[in-house]
Amino acid sequence: MNQKEIKDLYKQKINKLKKNNKLYFQKSSPIISDSEYDKIKRDILELEHKYSFLKNKNSPSNSLGYAPSKNFVKSKHRVKMLSLSNAFNIKDLENFEKKIFNFLNKRVNIEYSVEPKIDGISASLTYKNGLFVMGTSRGDGITGEVITENLKTINDIPKKITNKDFPKDIDIRGEVFIEKDDFNKLKNDFANARNAASGSLRQKNPSETKKIPLKFVAYTYGQFESDIIKKQSDFLSSLKKWGFKVNEQNKVLKTIKELESFHKKFENDRFDLKYDVDGLVYKINSLDLQNRLGFTSNSPRWAIAHKFSAESAFSLITDINIQVGRTGALTPVARIKPVNIGGVVVSNATLHNEDEINRKDIRIGDTVKVERAGDVIPHVILVDFKKREKKSKKFIFPNNCPSCGSETIKEFNKLTKKYDAVRRCTNDGYDCEKIAIEKIKHFISKEALNIDGLGKKVVEKFWDLQLIRFPQDIFNLDYTQISKLEGWGDLSVSNLKFSINQSKKVSLDRFLYSLGIRHIGVENAKLLAEYTKSISNFLNFIKNKKIIEFLNIDGIGETQINSLKKFFENKSNYKIIEKLSSLLDISDLKLNKDGKLLNSTFMFTGKLSNMSRAEAKSLIEENSGSVVSSVNKKLKYLIIGEKPTNRKVQQAKELGIKILSQKEWLNLLD
Ligand code: IVH
Repeated sequence: MNQKEIKDLYKQKINKLKKNNKLYFQKSSPIISDSEYDKIKRDILELEHKYSFLKNKNSPSNSLGYAPSKNFVKSKHRVKMLSLSNAFNIKDLENFEKKIFNFLNKRVNIEYSVEPKIDGISASLTYKNGLFVMGTSRGDGITGEVITENLKTINDIPKKITNKDFPKDIDIRGEVFIEKDDFNKLKNDFANARNAASGSLRQKNPSETKKIPLKFVAYTYGQFESDIIKKQSDFLSSLKKWGFKVNEQNKVLKTIKELESFHKKFENDRFDLKYDVDGLVYKINSLDLQNRLGFTSNSPRWAIAHKFSAESAFSLITDINIQVGRTGALTPVARIKPVNIGGVVVSNATLHNEDEINRKDIRIGDTVKVERAGDVIPHVILVDFKKREKKSKKFIFPNNCPSCGSETIKEFNKLTKKYDAVRRCTNDGYDCEKIAIEKIKHFISKEALNIDGLGKKVVEKFWDLQLIRFPQDIFNLDYTQISKLEGWGDLSVSNLKFSINQSKKVSLDRFLYSLGIRHIGVENAKLLAEYTKSISNFLNFIKNKKIIEFLNIDGIGETQINSLKKFFENKSNYKIIEKLSSLLDISDLKLNKDGKLLNSTFMFTGKLSNMSRAEAKSLIEENSGSVVSSVNKKLKYLIIGEKPTNRKVQQAKELGIKILSQKEWLNLLD
């Protein structure tokens, strides 16, 4: 080989290395094996060694560009970084619980810490005497790469913690990730947000890491010993107190049923979050129980990841329509060329809201990737910009409601200090056709009046035929006219009549839910019903402008109060309820009237021992008492637990309210 040939060969190998470095470290999608990669590197170093005229700035000996992981120092984790086993459906969850009961040899009541599973890269941060001294990647779970300097560039990671109760020696573990908006700015360089985070974290030069805005949320520990913290949820609260970011959506739930319904809701709502989530993690909340359960070879027995299932395909957007929902929310829907996704032909895909369209720059005529998971509405996840035609135009979201023409607004959220992503029609009664139809569909739905002979499609048909305009019209239907309609035989008409008649007897909580007031779902409707006890009482609260008093209810806050106020400011809503209450038999909430605590009201302050608040509340209610959430003259007993709020105790003393310890209260019950 002459010098030119050697130089060409060398250049070829350097380019190959550069290409594969980029694929591996930036895109995290290598196309060659580690040994092939090593061979290229070795060849280069050999050539350089042999021919001194070669050396080049891209030489692996300069370690420039994307540093291979082999260049990071390794460190053995003090506590292994395991992964989680996966659940995809309720059966998997039931099995998970069953295994726990088998392991413990008995059934126990389980409380779960429920946490979104952010799709990023896990990291372990070692703090000694409050100082962040070392950070590692997960590696193979046993040994990780030391990436301390790169992690130090992340603002969410505290470098020094001065809280007195912060453990002297602890590994804090969590997820490093990149938010969707930040990823969108970099999307030409990486296949997805996870790869962007991974590539950035493993840059040899920390100043490269700093260029990509990484975030960190903490969720567990490695090395750590404590006598004080007894629950995962308490650990999460401590993390927050110590200055770590924890996920705002974390919560505690109890039964598989609760997990399942939260998962279902989250699967839909997750697209409004700023980051990608690929499932929920459920962890047994009690750390004692966690310790008893321990680990199998590669995952804990006390935790499981409940994944969101998804399948996807590409298709073309032929149109974008705006749907108006029951609460006035305008939802853009893409009509797509029918495509088979995981065995289901999909021709519509939700675009969620105006912000989502703008963020992804989705346009009519675009080729898009559509994802479908379980029975969740399919949604557009990305646009294939390469296929976009030159003449394509930006989609302009309408400013007026496409159904009634009213003004639309994006509400300002006082808590988050941001405008809602969702645009809404300002019409809050039955004057907007689409809202009215959706309200009626809600009124007859399973958890409301449950009129099963009257499905959604029938509501639409009856609306078109002008048979119904308001919920009360359902009880004055002209059955002779209906029996003349195509597809309606005697049997179906009498079935309809029967189920409508049956639905007239309804409990107060179901009735309040059926009204479709925003933010008054099944749970809140129950709380309102428990508090007001009868429909006449409820209406008195409204008539006498005492909605604000509902703030006394534990669980009802400003959001619900404002929504109730807005609903009843519309006089037609009030009239509809009056009409309905004369047509229906709305049963008072059944009260247990022979318990020991009849006519006694209680309130708690401080932590109870051996018992949750919920357990205490149900104990009181089982004995005919009730629980309120503010100190006022109506309160009979204030029960104080550990670390009570002084202000509440003081107020109670001033009002002459009896103060009981937990023990004294339990004595009242024997
Ligand atoms: S707990 C042994 N909590 O999921 C417990 N992991 O498959 C393991 N992840 O490597 C970790 N969010 O990258 C835990 N709230 C969360 C999580 C979470 C995301 C990731 C993490 C881990 C993987 C487990």
